[in-house]
Amino acid sequence: MAPQRIAVIPGDGIGVEVTVAARAVLDAVADRHRLELSYEEFDWSCRRHMEQGAMMPPDGIAVLRPYDAILLGAVGWPGVPDHVSLWGLLIPIRRAFRQYVNLRPVRVFDGVASPLRHAAPGSVDFVVVRENVEGEYSEIGGRMNRGFPDEFAVQESVFTRAGVTRIADHAFALAAGRRSYVTSATKSNGIMHTLPFWDEVVAERAARFPEVRWDAEHIDALAAKLVLDPQRFDVIVASNLFGDILSDLAAAVAGSIGIAPSANLDPTRTYPSMFEPVHGSAPDIAGQGAANPVGAVWSAALMLEHLGHPAAAADVVAAIEASLADPATRTRDLGGTAGTAAVVGALVDHLG
Ligand code: NAD
Ligand code: IPM
Ligand code: MN
Repeated sequence: MAPQRIAVIPGDGIGVEVTVAARAVLDAVADRHRLELSYEEFDWSCRRHMEQGAMMPPDGIAVLRPYDAILLGAVGWPGVPDHVSLWGLLIPIRRAFRQYVNLRPVRVFDGVASPLRHAAPGSVDFVVVRENVEGEYSEIGGRMNRGFPDEFAVQESVFTRAGVTRIADHAFALAAGRRSYVTSATKSNGIMHTLPFWDEVVAERAARFPEVRWDAEHIDALAAKLVLDPQRFDVIVASNLFGDILSDLAAAVAGSIGIAPSANLDPTRTYPSMFEPVHGSAPDIAGQGAANPVGAVWSAALMLEHLGHPAAAADVVAAIEASLADPATRTRDLGGTAGTAAVVGALVDHLG
């Protein structure tokens, strides 16, 4: 069989550091399971933007199209405005490749202290299913009258029946294989036009999954419940912006944004899916060798699962569990003193 081809975009800041880490772990697990994976690296980043005027070449999307998966670190660096780096790479990839599901698992691992005293290890285990290509992140709108007293900004939210249907179906099907409980994040108490529509479509789709319990929670109340009672959740389905906010909140509940993974999926498998940690390029700690590599490594495990290697993915998750359980291999964000390289060494040893 021909090797599966992975496009690697390390990006900026700690994106580069955690991608090196993920690659080392992937090499170790590939050895163990005799997986044939090949990698090509792309220097698409803010550095490239500063030198060549663009995050990626004009045919960047076409270049990525034939790959089986994309592994991304993070992009963003002072000197290039965030809207330029994000609209120049991350968002076009998610959209061009119809990666309409952003899957973000959340667990409180053994050895990791949640800032919540009632969130004991093992007690929190849910997945945020974030709509990833429409909703509040729309291209419709703009800034007008720049510099004048009547300056204003407008952005339309776009919710389509097809878009809400497919994300709801994904969430219900996922819950059916877990604890059969979906929470839909909404804000339909009369203020917005979009979310009552979201609710209607989610309710219609729910009817097709009678074995899955579900309810809708207003986003403000849901944020509070996520802190007060994170154990109750199984699958949370949310719009693009709500899902973005909930996933960082959830990551904090689970101990650190440094361990949170994500899979940007095209479930139809027409296009390559993309795997990246939830966190960004963290300029404040970049270059120190201090970044927690677990979010990127767990994302790599999600990639292995997507590529049809569930046993290898499970081994990577087991290695993560073992390394987090050991105080000697916890990074600063988790209250430890280990650097990135020490964690990678431990992960590779576990897989050896
Ligand atoms: P961030 O996630 O980069 O950092 C937030 C905080 O968390 C920082 O204090 C950072 O030190 C800490 N942190 C993040 N990841 C960590 C890790 N692995 N280990 C230890 N600590 C970690 O978010 P930000 O500061 O809002 O954004 C910085 C840049 O990253 C911006 O340019 C932003 O646009 C970009 N960004 C990119 C992506 C992406 O490419 N997917 C995602 C989010 C943010
Ligand atoms: C994420 C990030 C991105 C998002 C930003 C950087 C555009 O925060 O992947 O969660 O909001 O989708
Ligand atoms: Mn985010």
